[in-house]
Amino acid sequence: MTLNRRSFLFGAAALIVSDGIARADAVSAPAPIRAQVNISAREPRYWMGAAYYPEQYPPDRWDADFGKMAELGINVVRVGEFAWSAIEPSAGRFEFDWLDRVIVLARKHGIAVILGTPTASVPPWLRRMHPGVLGANAFGAYTYGGRKGIAMEDPVMREAARRVITAEARRYGNCADVIGWQLSNEPGYPMENYDHSSLLGFRAWLQRRYGTIAKLNATWSGKFWSNEYRDWNEIEFATNSAEGGANPGYSLDYRRYFSSVVLDWLRFESDLVRQYSRGQFLYINWPNTRWSVDVRQAEPLVDAAGWDDYGPMPGSHDQSEVLASGLDHDLLRCARRDQRFWVSEQPSQPAVSVPDTAVRLNTYMDMAHGSLGTIFFEWCPPVIGSERGYVSILEPDGSYGRTADQFRKMKSEMAKLGPVLAEAKTEADVALLYSYTNQWAQGSSWRERPNVTLPYDELCQRYYLCARALLRNVDVVPEEADLEKYRLLFAPGLRLVSNHTAQRLVNFIRGGGVLVIDHRAGLYDEDGRLRPSLVPGPFREVAGLVAESSLDDAPPQGCTLRFTGGKESFSVDQSLSRLRPEGASILATFTGDGVDNLPAVMAHGLERGHAVTIAAELSSPQFYKSLAAVLARRFGLQPILELPPGATVLSRKVGRREYLFVLNMNRKAIEVNVPFSCREMIGDKTIVGSVKIPPIDLILLEREATMQQT
Ligand code: GAL
Repeated sequence: MTLNRRSFLFGAAALIVSDGIARADAVSAPAPIRAQVNISAREPRYWMGAAYYPEQYPPDRWDADFGKMAELGINVVRVGEFAWSAIEPSAGRFEFDWLDRVIVLARKHGIAVILGTPTASVPPWLRRMHPGVLGANAFGAYTYGGRKGIAMEDPVMREAARRVITAEARRYGNCADVIGWQLSNEPGYPMENYDHSSLLGFRAWLQRRYGTIAKLNATWSGKFWSNEYRDWNEIEFATNSAEGGANPGYSLDYRRYFSSVVLDWLRFESDLVRQYSRGQFLYINWPNTRWSVDVRQAEPLVDAAGWDDYGPMPGSHDQSEVLASGLDHDLLRCARRDQRFWVSEQPSQPAVSVPDTAVRLNTYMDMAHGSLGTIFFEWCPPVIGSERGYVSILEPDGSYGRTADQFRKMKSEMAKLGPVLAEAKTEADVALLYSYTNQWAQGSSWRERPNVTLPYDELCQRYYLCARALLRNVDVVPEEADLEKYRLLFAPGLRLVSNHTAQRLVNFIRGGGVLVIDHRAGLYDEDGRLRPSLVPGPFREVAGLVAESSLDDAPPQGCTLRFTGGKESFSVDQSLSRLRPEGASILATFTGDGVDNLPAVMAHGLERGHAVTIAAELSSPQFYKSLAAVLARRFGLQPILELPPGATVLSRKVGRREYLFVLNMNRKAIEVNVPFSCREMIGDKTIVGSVKIPPIDLILLEREATMQQT
């Protein structure tokens, strides 16, 4: 590689001062702008947003773009998240005039602005100055081009980010038209980084965690295959080990470390923005809430959570997939005590084969789960670049796309509903325990034994479908959640569990809760070390059963599961175990070569509560729906509203009012019996009894809040 020495030195001069690295305030400070306020972030509304990249288009179209946005009801625009090179075209030289103009034009059309810190894509001059600003994956260092992959532990990367974020925050932190900030873009993806600064960071993290190398060896079982370290510097990234993959102890700690590095980076960004920001909120657009970062730990860093929902829309053929996105909504809502979250990206058009109306119902699904707003991706299709022609609200010729009428419809509806629902909260007495420890214990391949297990997330999605099939609100909570308010808790795939958590779950049952576990519960401790007991380990007494062997296995060909008295059989396609009742009653059995009549689902009562154990892992969504019906019957869990298949209901409460979102995801109309007189908010009429909901549509009912769901 030939590096132009002159430009390298010239550029480096802006970064490097006597102590090695320049401070952000050493560069020329752009003046803050204080815009006229005509948008109040405090005015309650549902935020209808668009992702917009004005730097990619001629400035003379911006005004018209904002005008068109306003016509469709877009009231907030997210800009600047990939605009580093437009903001800082060369080291230390800032150009904000164009962004000032964007903000002023947005204001002219009554549109608020969310600014992104631009750290997800570094400009070429920075990379050239210091190649270490980009990290590495298992194949080696990242090459320039594309985006992301910044070296979060690299001091020069940090300093460059400090400089650009400080300049941006100083200029717009007091600008009332800017209502909020998005920190970077989809942090935590790519899901690993193996550059040298990360290796040093990982070793330091391990040292802090374990104190002594002996403790690390004890946790990682160093004697196994001679992997016994004498010195922290012997630890390397296991990106290409010859046989046997990475030590599970190492893998789990790598994931814990990676999560903490991303959070540390976001803390760094948040501190910089908050230094100048007045009355603006901060949020993060997580790529998907269930990957590499424990999003719950970000609560103190921002004022709202956010996630980018690219799941299929209502009306798509697989309704289970559509409902599964609720897991992320609910996880994010429960990631903060104030329940504040955004859907920070969502497609603006459905798949070709799905009706336009899906975009509206999808937005109501966000709102039904409690989101503060939806940002549609994106305003207009990029002319060139990796996302050239991406499906957008506008078509490439500047005309409105196929969903424009849906936006117009939402514009008037949201103007009415937004203020009413802005402070409404969700209450749930059913929860799903989502454990990052179990997610991360899968290492980077996300599966322990690919032929006999679903990835942890997929398993959770299936149990989430079971929870949703009860037609009640669902919380998605961490191990340390306050469990007292729940009647029913699903804890699928809980292989790794600390004694402390196990004891809390046992207490939950003793106190009257119903806990649903599966055939791997309690196999390991929280560091992935095999427990000196048979499955379900610490749950043996409460579950009233024990494994004959802790090994679960692939099922025999054609193996099925059937509930006692049930007509339907479900294919057992993933794995199963031999579990022996020790007091538990059998609710379902297996059929298949060598496993005939073995217990498949068991229930056991202890003191005031119950444990339900599933001895298998199945892919079939139908199984999980049937399991829901069995649980509902056995434990008296009534739905918020009885509904036909393909419809769902969620509720939110504010003061003494309760709002029921009844969503029909079918491509045909349904009849619903509303057994109480109430106001239907969208059509603004009083209803009771049989109500028709058109295809891919909803009704939104307002009633006096019930004190407790039954
Ligand atoms: C998101 C990302 C956006 C854009 C979009 C396209 O994950 O945040 O910048 O790439 O995907 O689907």
